[in-house]
Amino acid sequence: MPMDLISPNFSDIFQPNFEIGKFPDGDSHVRIPGLAKCRGEQVTLYHRLYPDQNNSLVELFLILETLKQEKAKVTLVAPYLPYARQDKKKLDGEVASAIAVCNLLSQAGCEKLVTFDCHFLNAAGPALFGNLKIENLSMGKELVVHSKKYFLGEPFETVAPDAGAGYLVKDQGGKAFTKVRKDYDGDKIGYREIETMECDFEIKGKNFLILDDMISTGNTMLKALETLLEQGAKKVYCAATHGLFLYNSLDKLNKFTEHVFASDTILGSQAEVSIKPSLEILKSNIQPLF
Ligand code: R5P
Repeated sequence: MPMDLISPNFSDIFQPNFEIGKFPDGDSHVRIPGLAKCRGEQVTLYHRLYPDQNNSLVELFLILETLKQEKAKVTLVAPYLPYARQDKKKLDGEVASAIAVCNLLSQAGCEKLVTFDCHFLNAAGPALFGNLKIENLSMGKELVVHSKKYFLGEPFETVAPDAGAGYLVKDQGGKAFTKVRKDYDGDKIGYREIETMECDFEIKGKNFLILDDMISTGNTMLKALETLLEQGAKKVYCAATHGLFLYNSLDKLNKFTEHVFASDTILGSQAEVSIKPSLEILKSNIQPLF
């Protein structure tokens, strides 16, 4: 019988049914009560991988090894995939960490990953990355629907800050900027400053929702916001599936936008749109473990 396993770090959405703790020295410890019920079964494992991505990944590898010993067939549901940003090797001596992590998950016994608006995928739906099968769910439509409560019936257009995030707004007839970055600055790991945001659509006097897969440092969103406001946009709201809001990016965005919000793939003050309905559809075919 198919089973689901809910991590303690998913307690905001479903009732956890296994334990994660620490040994005195900080090593992680996991325990799945009633493990025998997973023997040879299809298991859907719900476990968040952010924040604290390195610890969460080690916990995940321990869970996967436990399930491997029972020959369970595991689908992992991890709403935000860390390490997804470096999907290509750019500099000599680096590794494409997204491929490394996906291959490790596959080797550890994860048959499929279900995630949301994965950074290196440019479409919703099934994909193969490294050796890992991925089902990429999108929060694009839900974020657009949520923004209507802020626009209060006023018309607005949707825009993605770059072509990669274009699929998030495509169904709403949205447009995408062309983001041009400078070369790598040798001192800053993996960071390239944004040079320009180019667009071929009318901006003046219109309302916009800028929608991206993630707000990390906030530089992309700030540049898109600045471009729209400089060219005479009226009201601009900002949204992303994953709200990391590093450094003081939320404060900076709040100075120029009407409001900024995200989904709860990552929990935080701006997480206004729930992934629960999407996960409930997924879970409806799966029996609880206890
Ligand atoms: C870029 O390819 C993505 O779509 C995001 O725009 C980007 O990762 C956001 O990162 P940051 O907030 O650091 O500019």
